[in-house]
Amino acid sequence: MSFPKDFLWGAATASYQIEGAWNEDGKGESIWDRFSHTPGKVDNGDTGDVACDHYHRWQEDIVLMKDISLQAYRFSISWPRVLPSGHGEINQKGIDFYSQLVDALLEAGIEPYVTLYHWDLPQVLQDEGGWPARNVVEPFCQYTQAVSKALGDRVNNWITFNEPFVSAFIGYEEGRHAPGHTDLHEALAASHHLLLSHGQAVPIIRNNSPDAQVGITLNLHPAMAASDSEADKATEAFDDGRINRWFLDPIAGRGYPQDMVDIYGDGMGFVQAGDLDQIAAPIDFLGMNYYMRQISRSTDIPEEENAPRKIYRRDETTEMGWEVYPEGIYDMLLRLGSDYDFLAIYITENGAAFPDKVNYDGQVEDPQRLSYIKCHLAMVLKAIQEGVPVQGYFAWSLLDNFEWAYGYAKRFGLIYVDYETQQRILKTSAKWYGQVIRANGIE
Ligand code: FCB
Repeated sequence: MSFPKDFLWGAATASYQIEGAWNEDGKGESIWDRFSHTPGKVDNGDTGDVACDHYHRWQEDIVLMKDISLQAYRFSISWPRVLPSGHGEINQKGIDFYSQLVDALLEAGIEPYVTLYHWDLPQVLQDEGGWPARNVVEPFCQYTQAVSKALGDRVNNWITFNEPFVSAFIGYEEGRHAPGHTDLHEALAASHHLLLSHGQAVPIIRNNSPDAQVGITLNLHPAMAASDSEADKATEAFDDGRINRWFLDPIAGRGYPQDMVDIYGDGMGFVQAGDLDQIAAPIDFLGMNYYMRQISRSTDIPEEENAPRKIYRRDETTEMGWEVYPEGIYDMLLRLGSDYDFLAIYITENGAAFPDKVNYDGQVEDPQRLSYIKCHLAMVLKAIQEGVPVQGYFAWSLLDNFEWAYGYAKRFGLIYVDYETQQRILKTSAKWYGQVIRANGIE
């Protein structure tokens, strides 16, 4: 099964999850430093202080990327490494780190895909109100200006935000991520300021990076009612509205979905005149992260009074407890193709955690991850054959890394990391993925 000839093959990471060096070379504190240093917030008391020590081992990591034949590498920039106090003075050492990384990637023939924000807000800005406060937008623009000016001559592919849903709703409503708040109004305001920052950043990037292709990455989950009951169908509409449409619709120029505004019953007073036009700034591509579907089941009525289910969760799950459902990536892509008109789509993350072990002979065999990626790739190809403009695929993740509130317990890497020694071992899936890239297809 061959992919289109210019299909792009990559792998992804994020700054806080791999870099370590949390307080080196002038880096400021981020909300994830603060959160992980707060007892009880992250499993096992793990922190990103050292992580994969990528800040010191990036050259070695680029060699590994070459071993896998990667054509593109998606990484994120740590805002507090570049602007330790959120705005104001630039930390040249921070910029230099990313500048060297970009040069070395280009020299290795690997295209950099830069994400500006993958969840590590400078703590000083959280102290000033964080994403729920409108005064975060201006510093984000300054940060975008600093980075795109420094790297825009060499970086052509830009992702403003990674999964604003997670930043807003998991960080400010569910509280499982930094900064750990539990307030729906804060989450709604945060989502708006994340989107507004995205919209204002797009022209800044274009201005500094003449060949820029600019997009945003959303985590999309097809929602499916567990039964035909009215209650489950309403839950499906809610789940789809909360996770998918709340972000897709404003970016596509349709504003916030009215059914959700009605349900939230929030005055949405944080939306000012002109904001929605800025949020709808034309983009060149949509980044889609896909891990699983959402089976929607109402909890408003007792289970026994609800209609019989037509959908059950499959038994096959990853170590995260996430159902393996490859058809969902196809369903979501087809829906994007029919309901929206994005010029191009990249799968900016897809992958799975399994409990990997190093064998007696030093190898890491991970047939489940290989199979997960293969089945999802087959579904991506099917969507492409049906006309959806998917232009590339990034496996999550290049390396085992700090999996947020789960710490180091969940391994998503194509490459195994021994956190004691920082030794890296290519898993079977990494070697297989290299063959897929070289063949531009799967068997
Ligand atoms: C996504 C995140 C990424 C990683 C994967 C497993 O939501 O963008 O950083 O944690 O999930």
